[in-house]
Amino acid sequence: MTAHHASPTELSGRLDRLGVLLVCGSGGVGKTSVAAAIALDEAMRGRRVCVITIDPAKRLAQAMGLTRLEDRERKVKLPQGGTAGGSLHALMLDPKTAFDRMVTETASTDEERDRILGNRVYQQVSGSSSGTQEYMALERLYELDRGGKYDLIVVDTPPAAHAKDMLESPHRMLRFLEGKSLRWFLKPGAKAGKLGLKALGGSNGPVVGLLQKITGAEMLRDTTEFLESMEGIYGSVSDRIRVVDRMFGSPNTGFLAVTSPERESVDQAVAFWELLEERRYCFVGTVVNRVEPPAPGTYASDAELDALEGIDESLAARIAAAQVDHSALASRDRSRLDELARETGDALTISIPRLARMVNDLDGLRALAPYLHG
Ligand SMILES: Nc1ncnc2c1ncn2[C@@H]1O[C@H](COP(=O)(O)OP(=O)(O)OP(=O)(O)O)[C@@H](O)[C@H]1O
Ligand SMILES: [Mg+2]
Repeated sequence: MTAHHASPTELSGRLDRLGVLLVCGSGGVGKTSVAAAIALDEAMRGRRVCVITIDPAKRLAQAMGLTRLEDRERKVKLPQGGTAGGSLHALMLDPKTAFDRMVTETASTDEERDRILGNRVYQQVSGSSSGTQEYMALERLYELDRGGKYDLIVVDTPPAAHAKDMLESPHRMLRFLEGKSLRWFLKPGAKAGKLGLKALGGSNGPVVGLLQKITGAEMLRDTTEFLESMEGIYGSVSDRIRVVDRMFGSPNTGFLAVTSPERESVDQAVAFWELLEERRYCFVGTVVNRVEPPAPGTYASDAELDALEGIDESLAARIAAAQVDHSALASRDRSRLDELARETGDALTISIPRLARMVNDLDGLRALAPYLHG
């Protein structure tokens, strides 16, 4: 039985009730492509949509005709045939610029602002680490949502992260700004060893990039200075982070998990669903991407292979073996999908086949639409 597979209007029906969609999943599963495809599809359905994308490879930028990473929304020209009133904007997140703006908005004086922006510890943390990327995406989301210009904001999440990293990013950011982890460095004799990493909240902590780049006396001085200067803005920034964190639980916000058909990835999606259930967040569904397309009836029979004149026996044998492999893969993927649908209650299960061509332009994204709707 293949229950819960999307009917033509099921995804759009659920999205109509939402103003924010967070697209989550582990590295490389297709988050950026799916986020963009959904944003485009909803825009074609007549909604005013903005997609916040985090794609260092800039594949999506290419797809949407954006030329560079910048912190502003850009209008994307929609293909013909959409419902009137729809529009699509895209924003490529620049975490550093977003962080700088948060500091600028919360610093009480220009000196305070400049001291923070000029600090090396700050520059490392705000620039590159994955923890800050996730939080800054939420920060941008919050600003755009408050602006009220969009019916739906779709948020892509950074590469190489677990689905739940996004959920934890506000707290991680708070802990970081509290400075407890950084204070560890100020203890005499502290070394950035295993214990250090643990104190920083694990290998995904926002401070890890920093660890690798600043050492010794410089780090000590810059860290002290950083902590001192952050103290001034801590109060207002932490209030802000708490407000951002509350967006997760809003009935206006939904989560979509993207996964590959691989066991590990599907298990992660189920775990993510459980976590959201526990917190009573709105889980829209799972997109299983790169599913092996079934080919029933198109396999050559043994008799047909035997009847082929002019091909040698080893080639016929290889064709037969390839068919068996493909058939096994396709049926494995099909049963994974059913299993996922069973385990995630009334959430949607949407499958997108492994396509021959990569999604690198608007037409490519548009080609995903029929799969989104079953
Ligand atoms: N169904 C599909 N069939 C074929 N290629 C696909 C499919 N989905 C995505 N791709 C391709 O796979 C690559 C990775 O996709 P995408 O960038 O969307 O993944 P991601 O989860 O955002 O990755 P990252 O974690 O690095 O951000 C892209 O080149 C994309 O065009
Ligand atoms: Mg991506």
